[in-house]
Amino acid sequence: LLEDKTRAHALSDAHKFLDLNSVKELPDTHAWTSPPLDTSGYDGPDPEGVPIIDLNDGSAQELIGHACKTWGVFQVINHGVPKNLLDEIEQTGRGLFSLPMHQKMKAARAADGVSGYGVARISSFFPKLMWSEGFTITGSPADHARLLWPHDHRHHQFCNTVDEYQKAMNKLAGRLMWLMLGSLGVSSDDVKWASPKKDGSQEGCAAIQMNSYPACPDPDRAMGLAAHTDSTILTVLHQSNTNGLQVLREGARRWTTVPPHPGALVVHVGDLMHILSNGSYPSVLHRAMVNRTQHRLSVAYLYGPPTSVKISPISKLVDHSHPQMYRPITWTEYLGTKAKHFDKALTSVRLCA
Ligand code: SIN
Ligand code: FE2
Repeated sequence: LLEDKTRAHALSDAHKFLDLNSVKELPDTHAWTSPPLDTSGYDGPDPEGVPIIDLNDGSAQELIGHACKTWGVFQVINHGVPKNLLDEIEQTGRGLFSLPMHQKMKAARAADGVSGYGVARISSFFPKLMWSEGFTITGSPADHARLLWPHDHRHHQFCNTVDEYQKAMNKLAGRLMWLMLGSLGVSSDDVKWASPKKDGSQEGCAAIQMNSYPACPDPDRAMGLAAHTDSTILTVLHQSNTNGLQVLREGARRWTTVPPHPGALVVHVGDLMHILSNGSYPSVLHRAMVNRTQHRLSVAYLYGPPTSVKISPISKLVDHSHPQMYRPITWTEYLGTKAKHFDKALTSVRLCA
């Protein structure tokens, strides 16, 4: 039995690190007959569509608040992140994923680790594997980069681009968080840890998640990234110029595609914003689909609070008619809850009425 188990483990590892770029037929390990949480499989554009908000627009704050209440997701333009930096991070990601598998495996995520190369971190919650590969960066990517590109200076380029991207995303995430909270009448006095710093940078922790979705021989039975909400305050996502991202609007019965818009960034409301806003801004359920001909890439900036901070509904948003819905919890504690309950994590931190 033990031997069987070991073999099963080795087998699933082999499939986990299958080189999707060279597979001609969808293996059973990756065939999703009916994707979990799917409602109808509809993947066309929504007649209304996910809002695209111009940050230079005087009413941006109001529009963002409305989008957070009704969609939990929106796109932003005129966000101040230079187009060439978005192109660069995408090219950097493509360079990484196009390395030979044995090279990527040198930077593989440790079993108990967060950063490095591997399958989607939510894979363990689903019976089938996803048609994607990922690379997660927390802090400096220097050690991993040296393992990926040991013979030349590309590891410097990688680190420089990631560093620049992290700085730009940190500022934007801070700005977006304050627009979201501002729209609820919350000011920096109400959330002390989150007050913007003088240099425009934002207190908090973050990770960069690069996702690669190779062209797939049987896209209708494959899943790029299964449905989930992000365990963040908010996520800023750059997607390459290929459809794939879909969101499920609260109460809706079908998935809506978030089409790539040139230069725009997608913003997801995460579970911790859901808690901070005392449920006013529900976190958005989303997934990524794959296609037959194009290799899709996305880069997510996962923004959250400093690890020591307890997140709880902002007291200004709690009163007689809006009782406190969630108990205080740190980001680390929340991730622990999510690892146990996955799609019921928010429910499990709810305070009983
Ligand atoms: C994500 O979960 O935010 C990534 C989805 C995507 O690749 O568009
Ligand atoms: Fe996500």
